[in-house]
Amino acid sequence: MGFKTKQVHAGVVPDPVTGAILTPIHQATTFVQESVDQYMSRGYSYARGGNPTVRALEEKLTALEGGVDSTAYGSGMAATVAVFLATLRAGDHVVVGDVVYGGTYRFADQFLTKFGVEVDFVDATNMEEVESAVGPKTRIVFTESPANPTLKVTDLAAVSEICQKTGVLHVTDNTFLTPYYQRPFELGADVVIHSTTKFLDGHNATLGGAVVVQDPELQEQIAFARISAGLVMSPMVAWLTLQGVKTLSERMDAQSASAMEIARFLQDHDKVEYVNYPGLESHPQHDISKRQASGFGAMVGFEVNGGVEGGTKLMDAIELWTLAENLGAVESLITHPVTMTHAAVPREERVAAGITDGLVRLSVGLEDTEDLIAALRVALERV
Ligand SMILES: Cc1ncc(COP(=O)(O)O)c(C=O)c1O
Repeated sequence: MGFKTKQVHAGVVPDPVTGAILTPIHQATTFVQESVDQYMSRGYSYARGGNPTVRALEEKLTALEGGVDSTAYGSGMAATVAVFLATLRAGDHVVVGDVVYGGTYRFADQFLTKFGVEVDFVDATNMEEVESAVGPKTRIVFTESPANPTLKVTDLAAVSEICQKTGVLHVTDNTFLTPYYQRPFELGADVVIHSTTKFLDGHNATLGGAVVVQDPELQEQIAFARISAGLVMSPMVAWLTLQGVKTLSERMDAQSASAMEIARFLQDHDKVEYVNYPGLESHPQHDISKRQASGFGAMVGFEVNGGVEGGTKLMDAIELWTLAENLGAVESLITHPVTMTHAAVPREERVAAGITDGLVRLSVGLEDTEDLIAALRVALERV
């Protein structure tokens, strides 16, 4: 079955009671137990353990990623935390890419370490660095590609190979490209994480996350962490996300085509120092992107002349693009990572990882490309 057929139909069957073709929103917290010795006779008991609407979304995401099973969460961060809770104990070691979503950095840096887990941040584009960071206590190598916000691309198959040789889990955040453009399991990864808040929902309407796995035993451990910590997704969020995912491929194609044109426009602009977009030949990992993904995505990074001041002037002058933190939806958004999404990362580490003061991150939406470019042109004139 093709991806587009799966994104519409996987996980969803007409409701056996009413025939409704959309999965009902099962808002109940409690599911009846047939008798004392028939616990969860219909698969559900208490909503912290599972919910039929959420399950439909999990089945769809499992099918789209090509995994064995998945669990959904109240946010992308809750998904990441569930993986850490399920797999780590004091004394373990984790290797994390030096450019990852700021919240992932913060959790690893401030919470994993608090519970006795050692964390090393490495340049995940440099396989020698990754390999030499992996030691006998390493349990996870965590990657994100393309990475938020520099759009640095990691060779996922190369990291998976290092992990397989050493018996370490390769956990990767696939939020930016989604399974429509990139399927990390085909590149050897063990666990795929999503913030469904972004492209999967696609409408700035929900906050959610998901973890897809290949190993049923790991699924059980992660689901156990979820029920224990109460990191669950709500039925309403699952329902909205189920509808959003149905148009994922169409949105991704249109938004990415627009992003490519915008990246080219910015590349030729004299107020722009450089552009980070994996689709440009000038991107340092352009060839890896072409090899491991079928599209380049809708996120574009660029450095305006004049550092923080230039960035601020641009943000203040821009119209049509909304200054906001989210990404991946139909509305085009513009973000200043240093003061917004990545404020938790110390400046020295940020700059070393390429998250510079004037870096601007664009999430390209579904508006007319000409309108988006016209708005950028006007705002750049004021820089
Ligand atoms: C790549 C990536 N992963 C994870 C997250 C966290 O997701 P959430 O905001 O849904 O917790 C984000 C949020 O921006 C993100 O960009």
